[in-house]
Amino acid sequence: MNIQIPRGTQDILPGESEIWQFIEAKAQEVCRRYNFREIRTPIFEHTEVFTRTVGDTTDIVQKEMYTFKDRGNRDLTLRPEGTASVARSYVQHKLFGQAAQPTKLFYHGPMFRYERPQSGRMRQFVQFGVEAMGSADPAIDAEVLALVMDIYKEVGITNTKLVLNSLGDKESREAHRQALINHFKPSIHEFCGDCQMRLEKNPLRILDCKKDREHPLMSTAPSILDYLNEESRAYFEQVKAHLDRIGLPYVIDPTLVRGLDYYYHTAFEVMAEGEGFGAITTLCGGGRYDGLVQELGGPSTPGIGFAFSIERLIMALKAENLVSVEEPSIDCYLVALGEEAKSASVELLYKLRQAGIVADKDYLDKKMKGQFKAADRLNAKFTAVLGENELNENRIEVKNMETGEQVSQPLAEFVDYIKRELKGGQAG
Ligand code: HAM
Repeated sequence: MNIQIPRGTQDILPGESEIWQFIEAKAQEVCRRYNFREIRTPIFEHTEVFTRTVGDTTDIVQKEMYTFKDRGNRDLTLRPEGTASVARSYVQHKLFGQAAQPTKLFYHGPMFRYERPQSGRMRQFVQFGVEAMGSADPAIDAEVLALVMDIYKEVGITNTKLVLNSLGDKESREAHRQALINHFKPSIHEFCGDCQMRLEKNPLRILDCKKDREHPLMSTAPSILDYLNEESRAYFEQVKAHLDRIGLPYVIDPTLVRGLDYYYHTAFEVMAEGEGFGAITTLCGGGRYDGLVQELGGPSTPGIGFAFSIERLIMALKAENLVSVEEPSIDCYLVALGEEAKSASVELLYKLRQAGIVADKDYLDKKMKGQFKAADRLNAKFTAVLGENELNENRIEVKNMETGEQVSQPLAEFVDYIKRELKGGQAG
């Protein structure tokens, strides 16, 4: 019986899930500041959505997709990334026709890639990403880059490096492609089978090969930056000028190619610089794409975006010793003694919660001492004791766990009392 968690996936338990909530909340907050709105798309799509966009010579499409037939014999794939799904949705709902352009969207959710699991590489991971569609203004590139760096800043990560490159427009890429073929062709037999196949189909992918990384021809390969035409060069210069203007530091790396085929012009990654990282130091990847929407049946639409996985962001937080999870506390714990009081506490607990108070009680028939222990363990701000005597007198004993102060309250006023104390009292 195979009842262990599948390889490359993880359970996020309480204690850890709070870190996720913190990051997701911060990232959404920053997105709102930049006027991006959330989009949610399905976890699976027709396989073609990805094969048409991500590129059929990429590792993702060739080796990593979780593709299956459903019971209606449809060819479906668990999304390996979010950009293609967002573009599909953008086309399907004609978001390009909306008055407010560009369309600025963010998303987060699980993505699936059949990769070899290692630290920072999961088979199910959660991406947080944004896409700004409908503008070819280099200022949007700068905005998207500023946005991602703001997210890292907000969560507290400081040891990062923004790495930038331009992949040029179609014409520049074609010139570079030819130069790459000329460069690798004479020695292509020294490269892996994948690279041999990539040579004619998509030689840029050779630069991204994990097996042939050390081959001497890699470091001498022609640089895309030498093949940018006038327009592409001007575009890149403007992006850099905007970044300089807002004072966002970056480094240029002409070997940065990205693992997906839809990029043109700006391509970037955010790298972790902190110690304690394994082999994988890319925290985030993104760039500009111009043919994606068209490939999915929409009008020619420029776009730019990025995605990072929360798993890698947490690794960076841990590497910088920035993870501290406060044990959550509760407002009030009800200690009930005796059958009648226990029944009464069910209603009382319900009333507390209706009033917006975080409250709990014992369900294990514990003695008084055990119930107080449970209250302690939950960091309860108040503990309220309801015994038979109290019940007969329609009162309840309330203890402020911080100050030790104890008061007897009429039952009818108990909920309001706690509410008032939480708002203004020392324990608030
Ligand atoms: P990507 O470079 O394939 O780009 O992935 C982006 C980020 O997702 C990576 O930098 C990393 O943080 C995370 N990631 C990828 N694979 C894994 C994995 N197996 N385990 C953990 N984390 C992983 C994209 O997905 C593009 N859609 C980004 C984009 C958006 N470009 C334009 N818009």
